[in-house]
Amino acid sequence: MTSPAQSVSAELVCFHPDCRARYPITAVLYNCARCGSLLEASYEGPAPDPAALRRQFRERRTSNAPLDQSGVWRYREMFPFLGDYGHVVTLREGNTPLLEAPEAARYGGLRALAFKHQGFNPTGSFKDNGMTCGVAQARRLGMKRVACVSTGNTSASLAAYAAAAGLEALIFLPHGNISFGKLAQALEYGAKTLQVEANFDQILALVRVLAQRLGIYLLNSVNPFRIEGQKSIMFELLDQRDWRVPDWVVLPGGNLGNVSAFGKGLREARAAGMIGRLPRLAVIQAEGSAPFYEFIRGGAGEFHPVANPETLATAIRIGDPVSWPKALHEIRESNGTVEKVSEQEIADAKAIIGRCGFGCEPASAATLAGIRKLTAARVIERGADVVAVLTGNLLKDPDYIYKYHTGKLQAPSGSAIASTFGNAPIVVPNDADRIAEMLK
Ligand code: F0G
Repeated sequence: MTSPAQSVSAELVCFHPDCRARYPITAVLYNCARCGSLLEASYEGPAPDPAALRRQFRERRTSNAPLDQSGVWRYREMFPFLGDYGHVVTLREGNTPLLEAPEAARYGGLRALAFKHQGFNPTGSFKDNGMTCGVAQARRLGMKRVACVSTGNTSASLAAYAAAAGLEALIFLPHGNISFGKLAQALEYGAKTLQVEANFDQILALVRVLAQRLGIYLLNSVNPFRIEGQKSIMFELLDQRDWRVPDWVVLPGGNLGNVSAFGKGLREARAAGMIGRLPRLAVIQAEGSAPFYEFIRGGAGEFHPVANPETLATAIRIGDPVSWPKALHEIRESNGTVEKVSEQEIADAKAIIGRCGFGCEPASAATLAGIRKLTAARVIERGADVVAVLTGNLLKDPDYIYKYHTGKLQAPSGSAIASTFGNAPIVVPNDADRIAEMLK
């Protein structure tokens, strides 16, 4: 199958405004060879008719073609980098629901709140949206081995897509600091899994060296094709809202790839005439891993990484986020904001999201905790139209949940986290009378 957008030319372009060096779309490159900055995919060609495109996206929902059934590739005209769709491996990623959550809205100080729940993805996180694109590009380039460092979700996703595509996956994890559910996924999908005695930031430097030396394709979010795929989260969200733009999109921030993807996707949707304005982006970080928060609130002067990031929300335990320049651009372009939240605030917000009937993993709950702070500070108005993106599934980290509900959860500092909305299991005797008495 060939691309319907063959007239469009795609290139990799340096993100730095003073450089903008251009490279072929098939260059195996993660940073600009001239200045070292991040790269992004860039397209040139005739602008498609936005109304026709919106109609086509909607019609594809009724199609049985795998490409159309994917909640990523359905929007393929918005990231026409591939040329030949025969390289695509889809697990029907995306297709995640937009869920109204009155209980969470009340808790967050809002009249209404909807969650875009990326935990409904095939491997349980938003990483699948980007990984299907990254793996398609790996196949197009003829790569046999793919690698990533991960706080858990990227590795689960890479392992799954590599397995489905017949590629060898190499996964590097910070030993002892990822949840068991995510590690289990990588093992089950058959990835070669290396646990390194170092943190995420240190391992990323290591993996970059190894990828270069061994000719392995790197699929962390420095890979521009991961970012292209994650844009689809915004296209699907807008499609689900009949292209009505929310006032705010709130998401957790770790390595800052996702906010970079959302911002790029939204700007491109506006440039294509699909939407008339941008929503404001709000990035929420965990207090112990909040270098981007400190950077923005300090006036965006010099970026200072956090040497020893800490949080029980291990997915966002990142002190030196590679995509901060892109994230800064998107926060500025969207007139967005950054907030930080404590371990207690994350834990309580997470329990509330559970009470909505779906739940999420700890990093995702930073969104609701952040919304609560931002409405209290009147940055977000009570009547605002807000969508929060839940990035990972509740079952990713059951250990955290059990500890919270039984009053055993401790912050990295060792201090106890209160089981504010605790729901501990009750041990009962095998005796109908006594149980009936208790349940009266
Ligand atoms: N939420 C979840 C559940 C995540 O897994 C991640 C990142 C984030 C939020 C933050 O997204 O890095 O784009 O700002 N997890 C990566 C991983 C780092 O290795 O799985 P970001």
